[in-house]
Amino acid sequence: PIEERISLLMKEMTLEEKVGQMNQYNGFWEVTGPAPKGGNAELKYKHLRDGWVGSMLTVRGVKEVRAVQKIAVEETRLGIPLIIGFDVIHGYKTLSPIPLAEAASWDLEAIKKSASIAADEASASGINWTFGPMVDISREARWGRVMEGSGEDPFLGSKIATARVKGFQGETRADLAKVNTIAACAKHFAAYGFAEAGKEYNTVDIGNATLYNTVLPPFKAANDAGVRTYMNSFNILNGIPATGSPFLQRDILKGKWKFDGFVITDWASIREMISHGFAKDGAEASEKAVKAGSDMDMESYLYVAELVKLVKEGKVKETLVDDAVRRILRVKFELGLFDDPYRYCDEKREKAIIGNKANNDGVLDMAKKSIVLLKNDKNLLPLKKSGQKIALIGALANDKNSPLGSWRIAADDNSAVSVLEGMQQYKDNQLTFEKGADLTIGKTSFVAELVFNTTDKSGFDAAKKAAANADVVVMVLGEVGFQSGEGRSRTNLDLPGVQQELLEEIYKVNPNIVLVLNNGRPLALPWAAEHIPAIVEAWHLGTQTGNAVAQVLYGDYNPSGKLPMSFPRNVGQCPIYYNHFNTGRPANVDKNVFWSHYTDVEKTPQFPFGFGLSYTTFDYKNLKINKTAFAKGEAVKVSVEVTNSGNYDGKEVVQLYIHDVAASLARPVKELKGFELIELKKGETKTVTLTLTDKELGFFDNDGNYLVESGTFKIMVGGSSDKGLESSFELE
Ligand code: IFM
Repeated sequence: PIEERISLLMKEMTLEEKVGQMNQYNGFWEVTGPAPKGGNAELKYKHLRDGWVGSMLTVRGVKEVRAVQKIAVEETRLGIPLIIGFDVIHGYKTLSPIPLAEAASWDLEAIKKSASIAADEASASGINWTFGPMVDISREARWGRVMEGSGEDPFLGSKIATARVKGFQGETRADLAKVNTIAACAKHFAAYGFAEAGKEYNTVDIGNATLYNTVLPPFKAANDAGVRTYMNSFNILNGIPATGSPFLQRDILKGKWKFDGFVITDWASIREMISHGFAKDGAEASEKAVKAGSDMDMESYLYVAELVKLVKEGKVKETLVDDAVRRILRVKFELGLFDDPYRYCDEKREKAIIGNKANNDGVLDMAKKSIVLLKNDKNLLPLKKSGQKIALIGALANDKNSPLGSWRIAADDNSAVSVLEGMQQYKDNQLTFEKGADLTIGKTSFVAELVFNTTDKSGFDAAKKAAANADVVVMVLGEVGFQSGEGRSRTNLDLPGVQQELLEEIYKVNPNIVLVLNNGRPLALPWAAEHIPAIVEAWHLGTQTGNAVAQVLYGDYNPSGKLPMSFPRNVGQCPIYYNHFNTGRPANVDKNVFWSHYTDVEKTPQFPFGFGLSYTTFDYKNLKINKTAFAKGEAVKVSVEVTNSGNYDGKEVVQLYIHDVAASLARPVKELKGFELIELKKGETKTVTLTLTDKELGFFDNDGNYLVESGTFKIMVGGSSDKGLESSFELE
């Protein structure tokens, strides 16, 4: 019936009204206030009342959404409701960890739950649609937007894409009509994570092997999970802007994958095709975008200005417009907006849901699961619960804003629990705090460049004194929340400002340091990795940061996170990733310089993909494969015994990697193809069985065909990508 209802409605629509559905505007005035005056705002307001706006973004709160929806529903000729979009990237008001941190949990149920909490709060605030999940695979720590994704691996990335789509939308398409779900958007289609040198918005020039095997799989997984929208990307891909790429949008997405939802452009990306040198003016850019399959224009103001004319001139077929409009209306129907446009506008629900205890408990759980223990020499951790003198040092330790991370438009400033507040709850220790030095100068914001303190070290002495008097020093250092995210590329991956100096000064007076890192990307910290005995990767963990960090430091939660991205030794190693190809000279066989390496640093990462410690230890033994040779289509069962051999109950991510030894296209040295998160009491042993099928054993050729080839497959099973038990089997 939805398709019939769409057909009936479309019969009523003028060409102008159809094009209006393809137009999205940013929230541009206090909707509940007086009508806007001047410039764009006035124009947008007129368009809204004329029925030339199909969607708005960034309007939020039931009162505002109701007001704007009322204009669309009650003042326009056909009363077609708006679909309200918003960047719900890691929570709405109650923030979960940044997505990269969540990926470190490898806990798909927890990630799904986190997305469902975000959907619950956003929908209660009137929002119907999030611009997430971001499923861009990236190997570039220099790129600021890695904080929004799941890291470097397409297998893990695909599983997480599925979890997030289902968390936002529900398990089935019918769930979309529930009042606590929102439509998801897989972005940025495609290859944005491969911007050259990690420089924001930069050129992407990659081969088909990378496109088909690394970039596209998480997007495909999102489609298989039923994602209702895609956003295209700012970049050009091999010379063609993604927004104007029929190959990406028509051939692959809507053709091969049979995607029947709609594609939104990224912000002004139709207009940006002019800067790319791919269109001479707005009319040509619009023509190319609509022909390529970009269904809705975000903030280019171009479809609304150009499309009607282009259709009338015969340059664009009206059937293309019809296809786009049908797709957009379909999602609106599925959300139930035609049955009740105000169904997401319930003040009582808004009050009851946003920031409630259950949501805070949920994000706390996610935050603890996202923490990765990178080093724990001298068993400094967990901290003793009483009788210890602890010095807490670093401006970030007392920061309630930075832990919220980037992309948190609806959250209140300074609404995170700081690490200091979290640690103060453990009252039987003597805790002193010294900031040592300010990290930034002035207020930080989503849009402004950051200014770091590079000169003021006046707090060093007090911090050194506190450290000298302490049994253990906890230092919270790293990046400020807005240092990653859109527009935040870096060429250094060090500790900004005077933090490195502070760390080294404190180390001189007390080397018993637990370094708690705050960051939205992998950092390169070779000095710390060598000297500091305990390092905890705590990312930007959202609203409950301080509680999560304190519970991990004091051993009330045993960390189990594993890195979703390789951490380099220095920035010159970037891009560095575990699933690289072999060279012809991978090893130093001839004992001279003519092999693939660097002369000034080891070629391995500082901390590899999949790596993470626990307060306990896990032993792997008895790796078995159920047979030695398999026919195509048969299931390969890989089992291994894992024992908790340490002194704490704990969790471990058992990882299975394969290597296709010789194939018609070179295959990576290792590829993650299975994992399981298990929980073991101390002393307990479990047998874990992971299964490989054709789905995991094949690969895409350079034309996008999926091949499963016979030959030898090596496997490795362990708790990290750099080592494990090995075996092999034949595929015949
Ligand atoms: O969703 C975002 C996108 O990821 C980057 N440009 C702006 C969009 C809307 O805010």
